[in-house]
Amino acid sequence: MKALPPHADLIWADDGQPFSSQFGDLYFSRESGLEESRHVFLQHNQLPARWRQLTTDAHFCIAETGFGTGLNFLSAWQLWDDCAPPGARLHFVSCEKFPLRMTDLQRALALWPELANWSGQLLAQYSDLTTGWQHFVLADGRVTLTLLIGDVFDTLPELDARVDAWFLDGFAPAKNPQMWQPALYQQMARLSRPGSTVATFTSAGDVRRGLQAAGFSMNRVKGYGRKREMLAGLFTAPAELPWQAPWYARPAVHQGTREVMIIGAGLAGCSTALALARRGWQVQLIERHASPAQEASGNPQGILYCKLSPHQPPLSRFIQSAYAFSLRQLHALLPQSEDTWAACGVLQLSKDDNEAQRYQALAQQGYPTDFLRGVSAAEASAIAGLKVSRGGLYFAGGGWVNPPSLCHALLQPPNIHLLKQHEALALTYDDGQWTAQDGRGQSIASAACVVVCSAADSARFEQTRHLPLKAIRGQITHLPASESSQALRTVLCSEGYVSPARHGEHHLGASFRFEWQDMQPTGEENQSNLALLADLSGELTEALALSQQDPAALKARAALRCTSPDYLPLIGPVVQHEPFIRDYAVLGKDASKQLDTPAPWYPGLFVNCAHGSRGLISCPLSGELLAALLNNEPLPLPRQLVQAVHPSRFLLRQLVRGQRTRGSDTAAS
Ligand SMILES: Cc1cc2nc3c(=O)[nH]c(=O)nc-3n(C[C@H](O)[C@H](O)[C@H](O)COP(=O)(O)OP(=O)(O)OC[C@H]3O[C@@H](n4cnc5c(N)ncnc54)[C@H](O)[C@@H]3O)c2cc1C
Ligand SMILES: C[S@@+](CC[C@H](N)C(=O)[O-])C[C@H]1O[C@@H](n2cnc3c(N)ncnc32)[C@H](O)[C@@H]1O
Repeated sequence: MKALPPHADLIWADDGQPFSSQFGDLYFSRESGLEESRHVFLQHNQLPARWRQLTTDAHFCIAETGFGTGLNFLSAWQLWDDCAPPGARLHFVSCEKFPLRMTDLQRALALWPELANWSGQLLAQYSDLTTGWQHFVLADGRVTLTLLIGDVFDTLPELDARVDAWFLDGFAPAKNPQMWQPALYQQMARLSRPGSTVATFTSAGDVRRGLQAAGFSMNRVKGYGRKREMLAGLFTAPAELPWQAPWYARPAVHQGTREVMIIGAGLAGCSTALALARRGWQVQLIERHASPAQEASGNPQGILYCKLSPHQPPLSRFIQSAYAFSLRQLHALLPQSEDTWAACGVLQLSKDDNEAQRYQALAQQGYPTDFLRGVSAAEASAIAGLKVSRGGLYFAGGGWVNPPSLCHALLQPPNIHLLKQHEALALTYDDGQWTAQDGRGQSIASAACVVVCSAADSARFEQTRHLPLKAIRGQITHLPASESSQALRTVLCSEGYVSPARHGEHHLGASFRFEWQDMQPTGEENQSNLALLADLSGELTEALALSQQDPAALKARAALRCTSPDYLPLIGPVVQHEPFIRDYAVLGKDASKQLDTPAPWYPGLFVNCAHGSRGLISCPLSGELLAALLNNEPLPLPRQLVQAVHPSRFLLRQLVRGQRTRGSDTAAS
């Protein structure tokens, strides 16, 4: 799969309107694109009337084919601000095969000064996009945009959502016949709620009949301006959903008061807390230390390290979407400073010729250059401000982050209540409520839902013991900056990493120790970190006069990473282990068996952990995914990736391999 989608190839007409050279069609009506958008999509989905009737905690989902210039999205958002109650949330999902480049989007949206308030917020987060799903949280969570970049026939089948209104756009059927196909209408039917509405500018008979065959009652109504007719309709068919593996289906959504307990205030817990608080949940965040971010998330500088593979396995695709989201969230939440974070760029230097070839293959996949580009050793040295040993990849948008500052920013909503210095040692469930208990059996807090974000300790509860988590100790070394080492402008990484100075110190990481669990820093790990530095840049090693330093005397910090056997995180609902093994045992004999037995979920129990060495990238999107699951919203990732991070995947793999193990044995899978 190419990383770069082909971008929209625009011709700008004399009157300033964008025209697609790929489709030979206009993006919107010459009379007024904005008025057409309002007439066709907003009025004929009855959005003003429907939105005025929403309750304050309502959620409304629009799905669109063809994001284009985002005009429909922005006009819908403007109307939402006008009509919807303050606590309600809009989720706009849009498919786009040829996303506009940033410069084209700026130019197209400048046509609508009336929308400047909304387009400015979109443009502040937009950049040239890579393939995959791109998730945007706008207006402090009141509006969410998920762009499914790729062909509608590849992306829509991967969507897990319940749609309230469809904007069926996508150039005239005569100009884009490949898209206006029964397979599209069937996907729309799969995703529609009963009573979901649809509107489209076209009145083509094939489209009307195709939508009717898929279960929509369609009417011809007056079109915009000189167009005589368009189509509007309602989804009226009984839902005939294709079989879905019950072990990956969504658990029933909690219906009562939105109260949740989160156990662990590291990056995973704080990201989950923000995502749920934005959706109106009352969050009780239980943390055993006196403040958040004291364990793995407590390093002074962590790196936004986006390690990709040219073959785009699930891990790479997850990282790519998560990295882009993490950067958007950082820019939106946390002003850059020496305390907080710096988008100073990350140089990923190849460690040997094989890796150099892999990086070259990646650089040739055509990523936007401000996302990643290949650099020679000389170019890398010029970027870094110091001579480095090899070339590699440059991620211009990356940088370093102080994770405790990020956690602090994530915990700002007033509906997040931090319960510090409480260690949850057991979870009990009674009468629809979970209670977290401490070591003396005293209750710390209760709520209908729980998200366990306790890194490797997530598997300490009776209910979660089957999760195959592993703790890997790591140590970073603090290096006092010298005058010449301050020349380092970007993060350097390869086997290890070193950051530009923050408050007079560089940070150098990191060791991997599988056999120890204690937190006492060692001179031996400082020594191995120094060897990693020598590999990155001889000039920096000299600038820091490291040959004169005693490794044992250097300041250092150790903590535990939490990983899973396939290095992807665990994000999602938790099943009851024994009933799961019993109910699905037959998969050990026939892995393709289509069982209907619902998965034995623990009601309201979720986990978010195993972020390994890249929590700064993966935690923000993991919070959005969990909150979407708890709130019954469209998921921000394709179904394949949701399954790739699903906590039950290891139990399933064991069943399919005919193994039956539990607890620590599971970690061997
Ligand atoms: C040396 C080192 C270097 C790293 N470098 C980078 C890097 O450069 N870039 C990057 O992206 N990532 C890096 N990481 C990884 C990153 O730090 C983690 O992925 C991330 O911090 C994981 O966040 P978390 O919330 O899952 O875990 P943690 O930060 O460990 O948070 C878990 C929290 O749960 C609390 N807790 C646990 N059990 C309980 C309980 N029973 N009751 C109450 N509270 C509990 C803990 O006190 C802790 O606060 C590094 C990690 C290490 C160790
Ligand atoms: C008329 S434009 C949409 C205008 C847009 N809704 C707006 O508000 O600006 C049609 C869009 O559909 C996209 N498109 C066409 N065929 C597609 C397909 N098969 N999959 C995904 N997007 C497609 C085009 O790239 C184009 O951006």
